[in-house]
Amino acid sequence: MFNNQLPKDFLWGGAVAAHQIEGAWQSDGKGLSIADVLTAGSNKKPRRITDGVLENEYYPNHEAIDFYNRYPEDIALLKELGLKAFRTSIAWSRIFPNGDEKEPNEAGLAYYDQLFDCLIKNNIEPIITLSHFEMPYHLAKEYGGFRDKRVIDFFVNYAEVVIKRYQHKVKYWMTFNEINNQADGTHELHAWTNSGILVQPDENPEEVIYQAGLNELIASAKAIIKAREINPDLKMGCMMAYVPVYPGSSEPNDQMAALKVMERRFFYSDIHVRGEIPSYAIKKWHKKGYKIDYSQAELEALKEGTVDYIGFSYYMSNAVTTVDDRSNRLDGYSVNDYPNAKIVNNPYLKSNDWGWQIDSIGLRYILNVVYQRYNKPLFIVENGFGAYDQVEADGSIQDDYRVSYLQAHIEQMQLAILEDGVEVLGYTPWGVIDIVSFGSGEMEKRYGFIHVDKDNQGNGTLRRSKKSSFSWYQQIIKQNGVEAE
Ligand code: BG6
Repeated sequence: MFNNQLPKDFLWGGAVAAHQIEGAWQSDGKGLSIADVLTAGSNKKPRRITDGVLENEYYPNHEAIDFYNRYPEDIALLKELGLKAFRTSIAWSRIFPNGDEKEPNEAGLAYYDQLFDCLIKNNIEPIITLSHFEMPYHLAKEYGGFRDKRVIDFFVNYAEVVIKRYQHKVKYWMTFNEINNQADGTHELHAWTNSGILVQPDENPEEVIYQAGLNELIASAKAIIKAREINPDLKMGCMMAYVPVYPGSSEPNDQMAALKVMERRFFYSDIHVRGEIPSYAIKKWHKKGYKIDYSQAELEALKEGTVDYIGFSYYMSNAVTTVDDRSNRLDGYSVNDYPNAKIVNNPYLKSNDWGWQIDSIGLRYILNVVYQRYNKPLFIVENGFGAYDQVEADGSIQDDYRVSYLQAHIEQMQLAILEDGVEVLGYTPWGVIDIVSFGSGEMEKRYGFIHVDKDNQGNGTLRRSKKSSFSWYQQIIKQNGVEAE
C-alpha cells in the first residue's frame, strides 16, 4: 500500500464539532446540552458552568457561527478548499432533547439528513462523532452523567437510532471525542469531564473518573456491537487525545514517570482496542481501594465491541520529571502516577499564546508509538494552531504562523507513513472554519482557513472570508501532501 506517495484515497479534510459551530441552540426541538451552560472564558480565565441558562450571562455556543442555518454556504467554501472529508458531530440533544426519551426528535434527524446530503453532493465524506462534549444537560443534571449506568443505555439507544438512519451516508464513526482527556480532569474540578460528570469536593476525582470513563467505554463497545448488526461495512472508531509526555531527563526515574503518566491516557485506548481492562489499572484500583463496578456481561461487551480504527487529536507534547531542581513546573497538573513526578515545560519547545507547546516531531513519535502498540489504522482527526489573527485594512489575513505549524506537522505525518510504515487513513485539521474554542469559549482563538467575523463578546457580522492559509491548504490537498525536501 505504501510507496513513496500517500495513498490516493487519503482523506484530506477538516474537523469541527456540533456545539462549537452550529448555534441554533433551541431550534427544531433541540434540548439543552452541557455546552449550552458554559460561559465564555479566556486564556487567563476559565469558563464557568452555570446551573441552567441564566440571564445576563453570555454563552458563546448558543449562536456559535450559525452553521446550522448557513451550512450550504460553508460547505460551498469547503468544497472550494478541496476537502475530501469533513468531520463533525451529531448534537445528541437535537435527537434526544433530554436524553432519556424513548422516541427521537424527527426534526433533529431530518436536519442531519440534509447536512449529510449536502456534503455528499459536494463529494465530501462525512466523518461523524457520536458524542463530542455535548450530552443532553438533563442527563448530566439528573443522572450525574456517565457515573450512572442507565446513561449507557440512553447512549446506545441514541447511537442505534442515528447509525440506522445514516448508515448509507456515513461510513466512518467515532464514539466519544477525546474520551481520555478526562484522565487529567483531576486538576480542573470546575469543568465538565468528557462523561458529563462534575466531581464533588468530597469525592476522589480519580476514582469517580475511572468509573464514569469505564461506563463510557462500555457504552462505546455496546454501540459498536449494534452498529455491526446494523451494517457490517461501517468503520467504527474511538477518538483519543494523544499528548506524548517525554521524560524530562535521562534520569531513569523520569523514564518510568513518563511511562506511568502515559499509561493513564492509554487506559482508554487499551480497552477500546484490546477489549479488556489492563492489568496496570486493576492493580492500581486494588492498591488504592477504588471500588469500580462492572459485571461479567459488561466485560464481554468490551471484548466484543472493539474498534476498527483509532481517531485521535494531536496538538502538543509535555514533559515529566522527578528531578527536584526543575522549577518550571506547569500549574494545574497533579501527577500522582509516580513518586515526585511533575509536569514541566520542555525547554526545547516554543508555545502558542495558550501555553500549548509546539512539537511537530511529537506527531511522528506518537503515530509510531500508537501504531506499534495496537497495529490498527490511525486517523488524525484533529491538529491545528490556535492563534489570534489580525484582519488587515484591506480585509486580508496573513496567517503564515498557521501554515508553518501545519506544514511541519504534515511533513512529520508523511515521514511516519512513508518511512515508518504507519497506516493513516486521513488528516482533518481542527476548526477548518473559525469556531468557538472548547477550552476557553473564545471566538478569537482561531484555527481556521476561513475567518468568521465575530469576536469574544459575540459581536460581528458572521461574514466568512478566506485567510492566506486557504490557498496553501488547497494546494496541499491537490498535490496529495507537502513536497518532499
Ligand atoms: C480538542 C477538542 O480538545 O481540542 C475540541 O476535541 C477543541 O473540541 C480542540 O476545540 C481545541 O481546543 P480549544 O480549547 O483550543 O478549542
